[in-house]
Amino acid sequence: MEPAHPAQESLIEIEKAGLRARDLVQQILAFSRRQPLRTEILDLREVVTEALKLLRSTLPAGIELLATLATDTPQVVADRTQIHQVLINLGTNAFHAVRGSAHGRIEISMTGVSVNSDPNGKPIGLGLPSGHYARLSVGDNGHGMDEATREHIFDPFFTTKGVGEGTGLGLAVVSGIAQSHGGKISVYSQPDKGTVFHLYLPAAPQTQTGTGQRILYLDDEEVLVRLYARTLERMGYRVRGYTNSHEALAAFNADPSGFDLMVTDLSMPGISGLEVAKEVLRLRPDLPVVLASGYLTQELRAQALAVGIREVLHKPASVDDLLATIKPLLVVAITVPQAVHPIA
Ligand SMILES: Nc1ncnc2c1ncn2[C@@H]1O[C@H](COP(=O)(O)OP(=O)(O)OP(=O)(O)O)[C@@H](O)[C@H]1O
Ligand SMILES: [Mg+2]
Repeated sequence: MEPAHPAQESLIEIEKAGLRARDLVQQILAFSRRQPLRTEILDLREVVTEALKLLRSTLPAGIELLATLATDTPQVVADRTQIHQVLINLGTNAFHAVRGSAHGRIEISMTGVSVNSDPNGKPIGLGLPSGHYARLSVGDNGHGMDEATREHIFDPFFTTKGVGEGTGLGLAVVSGIAQSHGGKISVYSQPDKGTVFHLYLPAAPQTQTGTGQRILYLDDEEVLVRLYARTLERMGYRVRGYTNSHEALAAFNADPSGFDLMVTDLSMPGISGLEVAKEVLRLRPDLPVVLASGYLTQELRAQALAVGIREVLHKPASVDDLLATIKPLLVVAITVPQAVHPIA
């Protein structure tokens, strides 16, 4: 068009608006992808439970919402808010896909998976490095997608929804979040067969909390002693396990300073856990002792504390419960040397 054409002015404005839109899009994407991650060691069950509540409250009653949360799902290092966002975006898409169908069903599940590399060490499958992952899945029995759609769903602004209904950013954000967490998102879908999205997040490294502290573990149930001893050893503690009160006391009396903590069951044949604790605390009043019992009354608790027992543990106790109980008791007191010169 010649420079004097009356449309020129409008075209310049259109070009400017286009450039502004481009910048805005870049900003939105930068925002969704490169927000500094506020990571923590995260139990995905908590995030999923929260997201489920929110989704349930927004879904029409006719849509079934199911959750399968496998307990073997490893913890992950992740940003809670962003994982929540992933679940909401995927859940909303699932809702849109089942909307209008008679038996709409959305299923959120979570499990631990191992990804192997091929014999040459090359990643297989999703291109994830081999290792242990937590997998979060959101599935629906909605209208599904054909291949042409599936190829573009992660592109920013790709949408098949009407104006005002979808901007096409939901999955672009999800994919950005997966990437920034060192994970992957995958999708399986067929027209009229439904869709399932899987988010893979690398498992958090099992941090050893123990630094060689010596634990005396006493319980007349041999299986428990073996299980806890093995787990505590793996967490960095040194454990001597006993199933017999007499033997435990003999070991303790032979070397009272050889232990940093004791866990004892309450009800045992022969000498009860309470008696064992008394005996031990007579020689080592400073030793943290934990009393475990399946039947903890208020009186028993008071009795235990009066004897000098630091904590009572309700059985059955998970390994996490046990660790949460003993960790604070093993905090090493650090003596700060007195300052020689007063600090002005
Ligand atoms: N569960 C699903 N079943 C069928 N199609 C889906 C599903 N999830 C996503 N899609 C397809 O992928 C497209 C892109 O999804 P995305 O979440 O990125 O954007 P949107 O849902 O269209 O809009 P927005 O999420 O920004 O509101 C959707 O428009 C839809 O065509
Ligand atoms: Mg969406």
